[in-house]
Amino acid sequence: MKGLAILGSTGSIGTNVLRVVDAFPGRFEVTALAAGGNVEVLAAQVAGHRPKLVSVKDEAALERLSALVDLRGVRAVSGPSGMVEVATHEPARMVVASAVGAVGLVPTYRALEAGKDVALANKETLVMAGELMLARARETGARLLPIDSEHCALHQCLEGQRPEAVRRLLLTASGGPFRSRPRESFLGITREEALAHPTWRMGPKITIDSATLMNKGLEVIEARWLFDLPAARIDVLIHPQSVVHSMVELVDGTVLAQLGVTDMRMPIQYALSYPEKWQAPIPGMDFTKPLALEFAPPDRERFPCLGLAYRALEAGGTAPAALNAANEEAVAAFLDGRAPFLAIPETIQEVLETEPRAPAATLEDVLEADRRARERARQVLTRRSPARVH
Ligand SMILES: NC(=O)c1ccc[n+]([C@@H]2O[C@H](COP(=O)([O-])OP(=O)(O)OC[C@H]3O[C@@H](n4cnc5c(N)ncnc54)[C@H](OP(=O)(O)O)[C@@H]3O)[C@@H](O)[C@H]2O)c1
Repeated sequence: MKGLAILGSTGSIGTNVLRVVDAFPGRFEVTALAAGGNVEVLAAQVAGHRPKLVSVKDEAALERLSALVDLRGVRAVSGPSGMVEVATHEPARMVVASAVGAVGLVPTYRALEAGKDVALANKETLVMAGELMLARARETGARLLPIDSEHCALHQCLEGQRPEAVRRLLLTASGGPFRSRPRESFLGITREEALAHPTWRMGPKITIDSATLMNKGLEVIEARWLFDLPAARIDVLIHPQSVVHSMVELVDGTVLAQLGVTDMRMPIQYALSYPEKWQAPIPGMDFTKPLALEFAPPDRERFPCLGLAYRALEAGGTAPAALNAANEEAVAAFLDGRAPFLAIPETIQEVLETEPRAPAATLEDVLEADRRARERARQVLTRRSPARVH
């Protein structure tokens, strides 16, 4: 039985991780769970899996949790230190990093430092501190396995290829709900429209990132670290069907692609079972009906977030952490009705242009850049959109 600790167990990825665990009785033992404030879902998970350790975001959530479920025999903790305790839980061999945003950075870093294999969905952590995280993994021998479907695809296409055989990575993107919407009408985009993703059901933050194409920008940075290739050799293609999850072009012109249904249990199972392949309880692709696959270059003018991510990656140091922080602040403001959709790229651009670049030599450098960029982003957002917008 493989011991598993799950960060963000109550989210879209976290609940799918537990569905995969449940589909393979006897393979995994869930030793520790960390969540934010959704104690109803967490209580059911604790009752079902009886982990030895559970963490929530604060004391108030802990009180609510203990009223819902019998915590005898379960160590219950809270706050950032509680999440780190889950990420370094001794009996866990693998940590699933599926919290959303920068909150996952320190715990995921500590998991790698402790030599735990990490199944990574929480891409923001690699965006913020990719170089540091990879260095820790190399030192301790921890394996970093992607859960993002695109990186899972690339991981499979690259298996057995020598680095010099690879020309470039091709990350596919659905294009989100505004793929064909004219730029002139972007001003009126509502929260509901932006949350209506055409092909994937996901948590709200990544769904907005998909609508702005920032999700693909974050994935370019994630791929840079996971596969050790420069930005110039990572391209993005719009592929509305979301059937090809990504591709690798080799130096002889061969293009290798990974195809599959749009079900996150597939990449989750890949990471949890790696290097083995197990019979999945998911129907395969249906090739009995005609299937057209389209690919097109992204429109960087309508979706400036993609270019901003490339710029931050090329600038290096703490610039990607600043990009991520500004994006998290702007997306939260949009979701709360405090900023219009177009304020997202505008805020990120201003933060990137004004925040000083610094080396990201330590985790503290990264956390300081994150703090500063958030402060700046909040100022920009208040100045631009002082009133509620939708
Ligand atoms: N959803 C997908 O299909 C998908 C695909 C690829 C990659 N990803 C990536 O996976 C990550 C998770 O995405 P998601 O869609 O699953 O997000 P989500 O549904 O919003 O779930 C986020 C999780 O993080 C937890 N969390 C938030 N704030 C926390 C805090 N302060 N302390 C502890 N836990 C906290 C939430 O807990 P509570 O709910 O209990 O507050 C929840 O369990 C993101 O980085 C995303 O980019 C997602």
